[in-house]
Amino acid sequence: MSFQNTTPNSNIPDTICFLNGEFGPLREAKISVLDRGFIFGDGVYEVVPIYYGQPFRFEQHMARLDRSLAELRIPNPYTTNEWLELVHQLATHFAQTSHQNITQSQQIIYIQISRGVAPRDHAMTLNSIPTVFMMANPFKPIAEEIRSSGVKCVSAQDFRWEKAHIKSTSLLGAVFARQISADVGATETIMFRGDFLSEASSSNVWIVKNGTVFAPPKDNLLLEGIRYGLIEEICVSQRIPFALRKITKDEVFNADEVLLSSASKEVISVAQIDNQLTGANTDHPGQPGPIYKKLHQAYKSFIDKSCMPLQ
Ligand SMILES: Cc1ncc(COP(=O)(O)O)c(C=O)c1O
Repeated sequence: MSFQNTTPNSNIPDTICFLNGEFGPLREAKISVLDRGFIFGDGVYEVVPIYYGQPFRFEQHMARLDRSLAELRIPNPYTTNEWLELVHQLATHFAQTSHQNITQSQQIIYIQISRGVAPRDHAMTLNSIPTVFMMANPFKPIAEEIRSSGVKCVSAQDFRWEKAHIKSTSLLGAVFARQISADVGATETIMFRGDFLSEASSSNVWIVKNGTVFAPPKDNLLLEGIRYGLIEEICVSQRIPFALRKITKDEVFNADEVLLSSASKEVISVAQIDNQLTGANTDHPGQPGPIYKKLHQAYKSFIDKSCMPLQ
Protein backbone atom coordinates (compact mmCIF):
# COMPACT_ATOMS: atom_id res chain seq x y z
CA MET A 1 0.00 0.00 0.00
CA SER A 2 1.29 3.48 -0.73
CA PHE A 3 0.05 7.02 -1.20
CA GLN A 4 -0.15 8.71 -4.55
CA ASN A 5 1.34 12.19 -4.31
CA THR A 6 -2.01 13.99 -3.95
CA THR A 7 -0.88 17.27 -2.40
CA PRO A 8 -1.90 20.02 -4.86
CA ASN A 9 1.11 22.28 -5.26
CA SER A 10 0.17 24.50 -8.19
CA ASN A 11 -0.65 27.38 -5.82
CA ILE A 12 2.63 27.03 -3.91
CA PRO A 13 5.22 29.57 -5.11
CA ASP A 14 8.09 28.20 -7.14
CA THR A 15 10.74 29.30 -4.61
CA ILE A 16 13.48 27.80 -2.48
CA CYS A 17 12.86 27.09 1.20
CA PHE A 18 14.90 25.68 4.09
CA LEU A 19 13.77 22.51 5.83
CA ASN A 20 15.75 20.62 8.49
CA GLY A 21 19.23 21.56 7.33
CA GLU A 22 18.63 21.66 3.56
CA PHE A 23 17.61 24.19 0.95
CA GLY A 24 15.19 22.93 -1.71
CA PRO A 25 12.01 23.72 -3.69
CA LEU A 26 9.10 24.89 -1.50
CA ARG A 27 6.77 22.79 -3.69
CA GLU A 28 8.59 19.62 -2.71
CA ALA A 29 9.08 20.30 1.02
CA LYS A 30 7.33 17.69 3.19
CA ILE A 31 7.02 16.97 6.90
CA SER A 32 5.61 14.04 8.86
CA VAL A 33 1.89 14.00 9.73
CA LEU A 34 3.06 13.27 13.28
CA ASP A 35 4.94 16.56 13.46
CA ARG A 36 3.71 18.20 16.67
CA GLY A 37 3.44 21.48 14.81
CA PHE A 38 0.74 19.86 12.63
CA ILE A 39 -0.95 17.85 15.39
CA PHE A 40 -0.90 20.39 18.26
CA GLY A 41 0.32 23.71 16.84
CA ASP A 42 3.26 22.96 19.17
CA GLY A 43 5.81 25.38 17.80
CA VAL A 44 6.91 28.98 17.49
CA TYR A 45 7.66 31.32 14.62
CA GLU A 46 9.21 34.63 13.62
CA VAL A 47 8.55 36.99 10.74
CA VAL A 48 11.64 39.00 9.84
CA PRO A 49 11.48 41.84 7.29
CA ILE A 50 14.36 42.19 4.84
CA TYR A 51 15.22 45.59 3.35
CA TYR A 52 18.01 46.05 0.79
CA GLY A 53 18.76 42.32 1.29
CA GLN A 54 19.44 42.81 5.03
CA PRO A 55 17.30 41.66 7.98
CA PHE A 56 15.91 44.57 10.02
CA ARG A 57 16.10 44.36 13.87
CA PHE A 58 17.51 40.84 13.58
CA GLU A 59 18.98 40.66 17.11
CA GLN A 60 15.58 41.58 18.55
CA HIS A 61 13.81 38.90 16.46
CA MET A 62 16.34 36.32 17.66
CA ALA A 63 15.89 37.41 21.29
CA ARG A 64 12.10 36.98 20.97
CA LEU A 65 12.60 33.59 19.28
CA ASP A 66 14.73 32.54 22.27
CA ARG A 67 12.03 33.70 24.70
CA SER A 68 9.27 31.83 22.83
CA LEU A 69 11.36 28.63 22.55
CA ALA A 70 12.27 28.79 26.26
CA GLU A 71 8.55 28.96 27.17
CA LEU A 72 7.94 25.79 25.13
CA ARG A 73 11.14 24.12 26.44
CA ILE A 74 12.38 23.60 22.89
CA PRO A 75 16.15 24.02 22.49
CA ASN A 76 17.19 26.63 19.92
CA PRO A 77 18.82 24.57 17.16
CA TYR A 78 21.08 27.42 15.96
CA THR A 79 23.13 30.32 17.30
CA THR A 80 22.21 33.86 16.23
CA ASN A 81 25.16 33.89 13.79
CA GLU A 82 24.04 30.58 12.27
CA TRP A 83 20.48 31.93 11.88
CA LEU A 84 21.88 35.07 10.27
CA GLU A 85 23.86 33.02 7.77
CA LEU A 86 20.77 30.87 6.94
CA VAL A 87 18.59 33.96 6.52
CA HIS A 88 21.18 35.50 4.18
CA GLN A 89 21.35 32.32 2.11
CA LEU A 90 17.56 32.09 1.86
CA ALA A 91 17.22 35.78 0.98
CA THR A 92 19.89 35.37 -1.73
CA HIS A 93 18.08 32.35 -3.23
CA PHE A 94 14.82 34.30 -3.19
CA ALA A 95 16.35 37.35 -4.86
CA GLN A 96 17.88 35.10 -7.55
CA THR A 97 14.66 33.23 -8.32
CA SER A 98 12.74 36.52 -8.45
CA HIS A 99 15.40 38.12 -10.69
CA GLN A 100 16.10 40.85 -8.14
CA ASN A 101 19.37 42.43 -7.16
CA ILE A 102 19.84 41.30 -3.53
CA THR A 103 20.80 44.84 -2.46
CA GLN A 104 17.41 46.10 -3.72
CA SER A 105 15.38 43.17 -2.44
CA GLN A 106 12.54 43.57 0.09
CA GLN A 107 11.33 40.29 1.54
CA ILE A 108 9.55 38.76 4.50
CA ILE A 109 11.33 35.74 5.96
CA TYR A 110 9.14 33.29 7.86
CA ILE A 111 10.91 31.04 10.40
CA GLN A 112 9.09 28.20 12.14
CA ILE A 113 10.37 25.71 14.70
CA SER A 114 8.10 22.95 15.93
CA ARG A 115 8.84 20.41 18.65
CA GLY A 116 9.31 17.81 15.93
CA VAL A 117 7.93 14.35 15.25
CA ALA A 118 6.68 12.06 18.04
CA PRO A 119 3.85 9.59 18.73
CA ARG A 120 0.74 11.64 19.58
CA ASP A 121 0.70 12.51 23.29
CA HIS A 122 -0.19 15.89 24.78
CA ALA A 123 2.79 16.02 27.18
CA MET A 124 5.84 17.81 25.81
CA THR A 125 8.22 15.27 24.31
CA LEU A 126 11.62 16.38 25.50
CA ASN A 127 13.79 14.31 23.17
CA SER A 128 12.23 14.94 19.74
CA ILE A 129 14.31 16.77 17.16
CA PRO A 130 12.82 20.19 16.36
CA THR A 131 11.53 20.69 12.82
CA VAL A 132 13.04 23.87 11.35
CA PHE A 133 11.40 25.52 8.36
CA MET A 134 12.05 28.85 6.64
CA MET A 135 10.57 30.46 3.55
CA ALA A 136 10.82 33.86 1.90
CA ASN A 137 7.96 35.88 0.45
CA PRO A 138 7.90 39.21 -1.32
CA PHE A 139 7.43 42.17 1.00
CA LYS A 140 4.42 43.98 -0.41
CA PRO A 141 4.61 47.54 0.91
CA ILE A 142 1.29 49.12 1.85
CA ALA A 143 0.06 51.21 -1.08
CA GLU A 144 0.60 54.97 -0.72
CA GLU A 145 -3.10 55.76 -1.08
CA ILE A 146 -3.89 53.42 1.85
CA ARG A 147 -1.05 54.95 3.93
CA SER A 148 -2.30 58.45 3.27
CA SER A 149 -5.95 57.68 4.10
CA GLY A 150 -5.45 55.28 7.04
CA VAL A 151 -7.18 51.92 7.51
CA LYS A 152 -10.55 50.74 8.86
CA CYS A 153 -10.66 48.50 11.92
CA VAL A 154 -13.31 46.86 14.06
CA SER A 155 -13.27 46.13 17.79
CA ALA A 156 -13.91 42.80 19.54
CA GLN A 157 -13.47 41.07 22.86
CA ASP A 158 -10.09 39.37 23.13
CA PHE A 159 -11.08 35.71 23.48
CA ARG A 160 -7.55 34.37 23.06
CA TRP A 161 -5.57 32.59 25.77
CA GLU A 162 -3.36 34.06 28.50
CA LYS A 163 -0.06 33.19 26.87
CA ALA A 164 -0.30 35.72 24.07
CA HIS A 165 3.32 36.80 24.72
CA ILE A 166 4.55 33.58 23.04
CA LYS A 167 4.86 33.85 19.26
CA SER A 168 3.23 30.45 18.95
CA THR A 169 2.03 28.66 15.83
CA SER A 170 -1.22 27.83 17.74
CA LEU A 171 -3.00 30.67 15.94
CA LEU A 172 -6.66 29.68 15.84
CA GLY A 173 -7.54 32.57 18.18
CA ALA A 174 -5.77 34.98 15.82
CA VAL A 175 -7.51 33.43 12.80
CA PHE A 176 -10.95 33.93 14.41
CA ALA A 177 -10.02 37.46 15.47
CA ARG A 178 -8.79 38.44 12.01
CA GLN A 179 -11.86 36.98 10.33
CA ILE A 180 -14.13 39.38 12.28
CA SER A 181 -12.52 42.27 10.36
CA ALA A 182 -12.05 40.33 7.11
CA ASP A 183 -15.82 39.64 7.03
CA VAL A 184 -16.56 43.39 6.88
CA GLY A 185 -13.64 44.36 4.65
CA ALA A 186 -11.63 45.97 7.48
CA THR A 187 -7.86 45.72 7.96
CA GLU A 188 -7.64 44.66 11.60
CA THR A 189 -9.58 43.63 14.69
CA ILE A 190 -8.62 45.69 17.74
CA MET A 191 -9.18 43.58 20.85
CA PHE A 192 -10.06 44.38 24.45
CA ARG A 193 -9.79 42.20 27.55
CA GLY A 194 -12.76 43.50 29.48
CA ASP A 195 -12.35 47.27 29.25
CA PHE A 196 -8.63 47.24 28.45
CA LEU A 197 -6.86 47.33 25.10
CA SER A 198 -4.67 44.32 24.36
CA GLU A 199 -3.67 44.26 20.66
CA ALA A 200 -4.99 43.47 17.18
CA SER A 201 -5.08 40.02 15.55
CA SER A 202 -1.57 40.39 14.11
CA SER A 203 -0.49 43.92 15.07
CA ASN A 204 0.19 45.99 18.15
CA VAL A 205 -2.02 49.02 18.79
CA TRP A 206 -0.87 52.49 19.84
CA ILE A 207 -2.82 55.59 20.76
CA VAL A 208 -1.78 59.23 20.81
CA LYS A 209 -3.28 61.73 23.25
CA ASN A 210 -2.12 65.33 23.59
CA GLY A 211 1.16 64.51 21.85
CA THR A 212 2.06 61.45 23.97
CA VAL A 213 2.30 57.95 22.47
CA PHE A 214 0.76 55.22 24.66
CA ALA A 215 0.70 51.41 24.35
CA PRO A 216 -0.43 48.67 26.74
CA PRO A 217 2.20 47.20 29.09
CA LYS A 218 4.32 44.30 27.85
CA ASP A 219 2.83 41.32 29.65
CA ASN A 220 1.39 37.84 28.96
CA LEU A 221 -1.77 39.31 27.37
CA LEU A 222 -0.13 40.48 24.16
CA LEU A 223 2.76 39.77 21.84
CA GLU A 224 5.59 42.22 22.30
CA GLY A 225 6.08 43.16 18.67
CA ILE A 226 9.59 44.00 17.58
CA ARG A 227 8.17 47.45 16.89
CA TYR A 228 7.54 47.97 20.64
CA GLY A 229 11.23 48.65 21.20
CA LEU A 230 11.62 50.38 17.86
CA ILE A 231 8.77 52.86 18.38
CA GLU A 232 10.10 53.63 21.85
CA GLU A 233 13.55 54.34 20.34
CA ILE A 234 11.98 56.52 17.65
CA CYS A 235 9.99 58.47 20.26
CA VAL A 236 13.17 59.08 22.28
CA SER A 237 15.05 60.21 19.16
CA GLN A 238 12.17 62.50 18.08
CA ARG A 239 11.52 63.78 21.64
CA ILE A 240 7.96 62.44 21.54
CA PRO A 241 6.68 61.59 25.05
CA PHE A 242 6.08 57.82 25.34
CA ALA A 243 4.44 55.67 28.04
CA LEU A 244 3.33 52.06 28.50
CA ARG A 245 0.22 51.70 30.67
CA LYS A 246 -3.23 50.14 30.67
CA ILE A 247 -5.50 51.83 28.10
CA THR A 248 -9.30 51.78 28.33
CA LYS A 249 -11.78 51.39 25.49
CA ASP A 250 -12.90 55.00 25.98
CA GLU A 251 -9.33 56.19 25.61
CA VAL A 252 -8.98 54.31 22.32
CA PHE A 253 -12.25 55.70 20.93
CA ASN A 254 -11.36 59.24 22.11
CA ALA A 255 -7.69 59.18 21.13
CA ASP A 256 -6.25 61.89 18.87
CA GLU A 257 -4.61 59.15 16.78
CA VAL A 258 -4.72 55.34 16.73
CA LEU A 259 -1.89 53.39 15.07
CA LEU A 260 -1.07 49.78 14.24
CA SER A 261 2.39 48.28 13.97
CA SER A 262 3.79 45.00 12.64
CA ALA A 263 6.66 43.77 10.48
CA SER A 264 4.58 44.02 7.30
CA LYS A 265 2.46 47.10 8.19
CA GLU A 266 5.46 48.89 9.72
CA VAL A 267 3.43 51.68 11.36
CA ILE A 268 0.08 52.71 9.92
CA SER A 269 -2.72 55.05 10.93
CA VAL A 270 -6.24 53.84 11.83
CA ALA A 271 -8.93 56.03 10.23
CA GLN A 272 -12.04 54.34 11.67
CA ILE A 273 -12.97 51.85 14.36
CA ASP A 274 -16.47 50.33 14.11
CA ASN A 275 -17.37 53.01 11.52
CA GLN A 276 -16.45 55.80 13.98
CA LEU A 277 -13.76 58.23 12.81
CA THR A 278 -10.61 58.35 14.95
CA GLY A 279 -9.42 61.75 16.18
CA ALA A 280 -12.96 63.16 16.04
CA ASN A 281 -11.94 66.07 18.31
CA THR A 282 -8.86 67.04 16.31
CA ASP A 283 -8.38 69.03 13.11
CA HIS A 284 -7.70 65.73 11.25
CA PRO A 285 -10.70 63.44 11.98
CA GLY A 286 -10.30 60.08 10.24
CA GLN A 287 -6.97 61.17 8.76
CA PRO A 288 -3.39 60.21 9.62
CA GLY A 289 -2.18 62.68 12.26
CA PRO A 290 1.11 64.49 12.90
CA ILE A 291 2.56 61.85 15.25
CA TYR A 292 1.90 59.06 12.72
CA LYS A 293 3.69 61.11 10.07
CA LYS A 294 6.73 61.68 12.31
CA LEU A 295 6.89 58.01 13.37
CA HIS A 296 6.59 56.71 9.82
CA GLN A 297 9.24 59.10 8.52
CA ALA A 298 11.61 58.13 11.33
CA TYR A 299 10.82 54.43 10.80
CA LYS A 300 12.00 54.74 7.18
CA SER A 301 15.20 56.49 8.31
CA PHE A 302 15.90 53.68 10.83
CA ILE A 303 15.55 51.14 7.99
CA ASP A 304 17.88 53.14 5.74
CA LYS A 305 20.47 53.56 8.50
CA SER A 306 20.54 49.89 9.44
CA CYS A 307 19.97 48.12 6.09
CA MET A 308 20.91 50.39 3.17
CA PRO A 309 24.26 49.43 1.60
CA LEU A 310 26.97 52.05 1.98
CA GLN A 311 27.58 53.96 -1.26
C1 LIG B 1 -0.63 39.06 17.84
C2 LIG B 1 0.43 39.94 17.28
N1 LIG B 1 0.73 41.09 17.92
C3 LIG B 1 1.67 41.94 17.45
C4 LIG B 1 2.37 41.66 16.28
C5 LIG B 1 3.43 42.61 15.79
O1 LIG B 1 4.70 42.05 15.99
P1 LIG B 1 5.94 42.51 15.10
O2 LIG B 1 6.09 44.00 15.31
O3 LIG B 1 7.11 41.76 15.66
O4 LIG B 1 5.62 42.15 13.68
C6 LIG B 1 2.10 40.47 15.60
C7 LIG B 1 2.83 40.14 14.37
O5 LIG B 1 2.54 39.21 13.67
C8 LIG B 1 1.12 39.59 16.11
O6 LIG B 1 0.83 38.42 15.50
